[in-house]
Amino acid sequence: MSRKKIQLDEEEIPKEWYNILPDLPEPLPPLINPQTKEPVRPEDLEAVFAKELIRQEVSSERWIPIPEEVREIYRMWRPTPLYRAYGLEKALNTPARIYYKWEGVSPPGSHKPNTAIAQAYYNLKEGTRRLTTETGAGQWGSALAFACAMFDLKCTVYMVKASYYQKPYRKTMMQVWNAEVIPSPSTRTEAGRKILERDPKCPGSLGISISEAVNDAVTHEDTKYTLGSVVNHVLLHQTVIGLELQKQFQQIDEYPDIMFGCVGGGSSFSGFSYPFLREKMHGEKKELRAVAVEPAACPTLTKGPYRYDHGDSARLIPLVKMYTLGHDFVPEPIHAGGLRYHGDAPILSLLVHKGVMEAKAYLQNEVFQAAVLFTKTEGIIPAPEPSYAIKAVVDEALECKRKGEEKVLAFNLCGHGHFDMSAYDAYFERKLPDYSYPEEKIKQSIKKLEELYPWLK
Ligand SMILES: Cc1ncc(COP(=O)(O)O)c(C=O)c1O
Repeated sequence: MSRKKIQLDEEEIPKEWYNILPDLPEPLPPLINPQTKEPVRPEDLEAVFAKELIRQEVSSERWIPIPEEVREIYRMWRPTPLYRAYGLEKALNTPARIYYKWEGVSPPGSHKPNTAIAQAYYNLKEGTRRLTTETGAGQWGSALAFACAMFDLKCTVYMVKASYYQKPYRKTMMQVWNAEVIPSPSTRTEAGRKILERDPKCPGSLGISISEAVNDAVTHEDTKYTLGSVVNHVLLHQTVIGLELQKQFQQIDEYPDIMFGCVGGGSSFSGFSYPFLREKMHGEKKELRAVAVEPAACPTLTKGPYRYDHGDSARLIPLVKMYTLGHDFVPEPIHAGGLRYHGDAPILSLLVHKGVMEAKAYLQNEVFQAAVLFTKTEGIIPAPEPSYAIKAVVDEALECKRKGEEKVLAFNLCGHGHFDMSAYDAYFERKLPDYSYPEEKIKQSIKKLEELYPWLK
């Protein structure tokens, strides 16, 4: 009988994370301190992050043990199931075999707790009492609130003001887990006050919320900052997804031809694909393709330059080399809040730059059309973010049909859309603007960046 759902036992939750750093085609460019123009030393980050996370950030060990306490909590929802999308295949009448890894089964509803749990654990061990972070759509904030509740830590979340009012139930969810949720920009931090002086009605952005959360952490003794994407240690923790997926594909004697995932900062797609990209880079699976999918309204990988920039608007975070639209770039309010980030993970950026990964961009109406088709045929309501990957998969499956090719397509269904009904509503009411490629805005913010740091490319 053909399998709908491929599952693993709890004992098969990976015991180590996979660190891609030693396998990269070339070393990752260092973080640069804009004042000294010198590379940032790991110790310089200690005011912000837990020491163990900094060690992982720069580690050259390929395998990093997952603490037993972290695996214990992973057991609540891991291993996550791999599904064969028979319903979608039938609707598309495609010879392609489509699979998706379902990360929406975690308590907050996405892949984000894979790293939130690890970060909360290391911070607790090092004596931190409170964690701060930013959140856009609310998925990451919910994950950290949940993780802090599991380890009895305090949690302060700076939520982009526009989302705070648009998504009241994400906010309430965080509060149920005992987190303090602050609409950002706020008067709580120096960074927030400066922005409000200039623009009292500012709706906020991820870059601004990051500035506030960092500012709060560095001005309080017992407090550290956490990030939900972009940095190396977050991508590392997410590799539990791809490591499980390898075992699941082995179980059914399949191997993907093309892997798809949405990319905001890049953590879910990195975690999903890096264990496979290792095999590609080692020459064992040369033909494997990995396609990162992003919104045309925030086209970092497809239209941004690969250059140094800050990860946040207030320029508190050092300069990192990545694909960027400029730290001043504020994207239009598309519903995939998690994909509205001006930059991308440095590792993922390097892999795209070197041609190991590819990138594609779509408009939100075509994405929701694919999401609705997926829901009708597979039952699950996806979050707006992974719906971008679904659109790319649908296109590829139709291409397989045209060419009569039996390719294996795999994508990361990294979250459910239960708190995103307003987005589906807008789609049905034909009220979703498409917000196409913002060429002029990108040119301006990159020009500003070049003027600010003429010495850096
Ligand atoms: C469900 C979901 N998917 C994807 C993303 C994008 O982040 P990343 O690219 O780090 O996975 C987010 C971010 O908030 C998210 O909530």
